[in-house]
Amino acid sequence: MSSLFDFDKPAIYAVMGNPVSHSKSPRIHGLFAEQTGQRLQYTAIQVDPGGFEQAVRNFVANGGSGLNVTVPFKTNAWELVDSRTPRAALAGAVNTIEVQAQGVLHGDNTDGVGLVNDIVNNQGGAVANKSVLLLGAGGAARGVLSPLLEQGPAELVIANRTEDRAIGLARNFSKLGAVTGCGFDDLADRHFDLVINATSASLHGELPPLSGQLLAPGAWCYDMMYAATATPFMQWAERHGAAKISDGLGMLVEQAAESFVLWRKVRPQTATVIATLRAELQ
Ligand code: ATR
Repeated sequence: MSSLFDFDKPAIYAVMGNPVSHSKSPRIHGLFAEQTGQRLQYTAIQVDPGGFEQAVRNFVANGGSGLNVTVPFKTNAWELVDSRTPRAALAGAVNTIEVQAQGVLHGDNTDGVGLVNDIVNNQGGAVANKSVLLLGAGGAARGVLSPLLEQGPAELVIANRTEDRAIGLARNFSKLGAVTGCGFDDLADRHFDLVINATSASLHGELPPLSGQLLAPGAWCYDMMYAATATPFMQWAERHGAAKISDGLGMLVEQAAESFVLWRKVRPQTATVIATLRAELQ
């Protein structure tokens, strides 16, 4: 009987993380819902370490329809879900959960497709046939590797402070394309068209040790982090003459749009939402 009355209730979504109060996801999904006329409620839920599974079970028991998952629970989400999209399976991390019939949890990872959509669709760039350098070999790098390789770069080099992690990661993805791993020292005489920062160095106001000659003429530097002011990596790119420099705000909105499509089967327009978020960052 209750389903008759539930029909008019907004669908319930949330982002879980720790910390999560700074998350832009409630704002982004609120704007998507307004724009597409979807009735939904989207909140941020702070989850204690070790409490992720219980928090998800409670959310489902309370009628939740879908979740975004952020730091530090993306790997826990990958382990918890009942099924995964191929890109989530490869990423080893889940940032989007769809609650299906009987509470079955389906996991996706929309980070990589968000990055590619921002580069290719929003900013008119390309990954195909380009020499691409991915900085970092942690969860953020792993999450974007399969969508990047799907674009068919001429080569993709993963460089990391801990060289072994980069080599191991490249080995895991070698079936998908021309990908190799190395340490920062090995980049001395290399040149790249697109350099993507997936390290967490910017979070601490730090910068990987990069030499300025890395950038090919016309090179584009993309930091997956975003901030009101240029990150240390973006400042480095400016100093070394990058032709184009971007932060990760577009990626953030695009990964959210992919989650929204999975949940609501409607694609929101992202340009106005990116512009609104950009204005609100100042
Ligand atoms: P995330 O999920 O954000 O990727 P992570 O898995 O802890 O977090 O990985 C952080 C990444 O940033 C790693 O590649 C890390 O290098 P190490 O594997 O050598 O630890 C990189 N990183 C963090 N701080 C850095 C710094 N100051 N300089 C260079 N790389 C840094």
